[in-house]
Amino acid sequence: MSGPLSLARPDLRDFVPYEAAAPDRQMIRLHANESAWRHPWDDSEAGLNRYPDPRAERLTRRLAEIYGARANELLLTRGSDDAIDVLARAFCVAMQDRVLVCPPSFGMYAIAARLQGAGVIEVPLDAGRDFSLDEEKLLAAAADVKIVFLCSPNNPTGNVIPAETIAKICDRLTDRALVVVDEAYAEFAGAPSAIDLRPYHDNLVILRTLSKAYALAGARLGVLVADPVVVRLLRGVLPPYPLPSPCLEAAERLMAPEALEQARHAVADSVARRRRLADALTGLSCVTRVWPSEGNFVLVRFRDADLAVESCRKRGVLLRDFSRKPGLEGCVRITVGEEDENRLVLETLETLQ
Ligand SMILES: Cc1ncc(COP(=O)(O)O)c(C=O)c1O
Repeated sequence: MSGPLSLARPDLRDFVPYEAAAPDRQMIRLHANESAWRHPWDDSEAGLNRYPDPRAERLTRRLAEIYGARANELLLTRGSDDAIDVLARAFCVAMQDRVLVCPPSFGMYAIAARLQGAGVIEVPLDAGRDFSLDEEKLLAAAADVKIVFLCSPNNPTGNVIPAETIAKICDRLTDRALVVVDEAYAEFAGAPSAIDLRPYHDNLVILRTLSKAYALAGARLGVLVADPVVVRLLRGVLPPYPLPSPCLEAAERLMAPEALEQARHAVADSVARRRRLADALTGLSCVTRVWPSEGNFVLVRFRDADLAVESCRKRGVLLRDFSRKPGLEGCVRITVGEEDENRLVLETLETLQ
């Protein structure tokens, strides 16, 4: 057997998933044991008394257009956290399989793997070379892993992985491992999406989210783009109605052209503020390093990270302290805020040595 299905847990390859009730709204619905009445305060379009569309077809088609993929390559999940979890569950046999991660990076890859009972191999990014990825080291370590998790732009270091590197890793790991590229922050980056590479690599999986650039973190909507056989398998592992209808309706409102345009402007503004924030931080005496970032955050090394975090906290601002993580000594991640929020952070840090 070859192709990405050959990498899945053997017991899931011919698994027969639960069949959700048909989403048809035109018919009288006596097939799903729902309540026939609606609460008077329920102003949702679909009615909260009804189960949501199990495949979220309308939103899936619209997102496929936006991301430049086919609808059968998309799976909507409860945030990308859910996508990471379902990938680990579907592809890793507990106490046998392993995944590969490249720290410092988003922590959920290793957590999802461990929750599934899978092993975790680390190939750290090169802190001495702006946290770049050593692809040969990665390929040597990936000899026998089921999933390679890459993050581009990487959280928390902010750098992107070049498309040629991703293509090479996918090529070399064809029929050996899934290559998952988490692009949660892609909209803030100048680089093209790995979605462009998808048609050429059946082991490539891309994760996108509506939580960041689209300002919908509360709706919990992630988008996984993969070969249709992978999408079909993962859909069967998710619960039958994974996405609440108010979340689907919120996302559909966002996909209206004016709302999308507004989100694109907000991203461009955030990128401009990121540049100004990074420049201003670079000039502070308490700061020893600011890394260039393609995300909606900057990674900063302080002479005294505890003092920086605590001083901001006293002024009502929360920062993310990474200073105790290997490779990130003294480092703090600052999300790009509104202009006045960034100014407050800078004013606070200016008073420190
Ligand atoms: C790289 C990365 N991937 C995924 C996520 C999770 O995103 P979601 O809100 O879609 O679950 C985050 C959240 O911060 C992230 O930084």
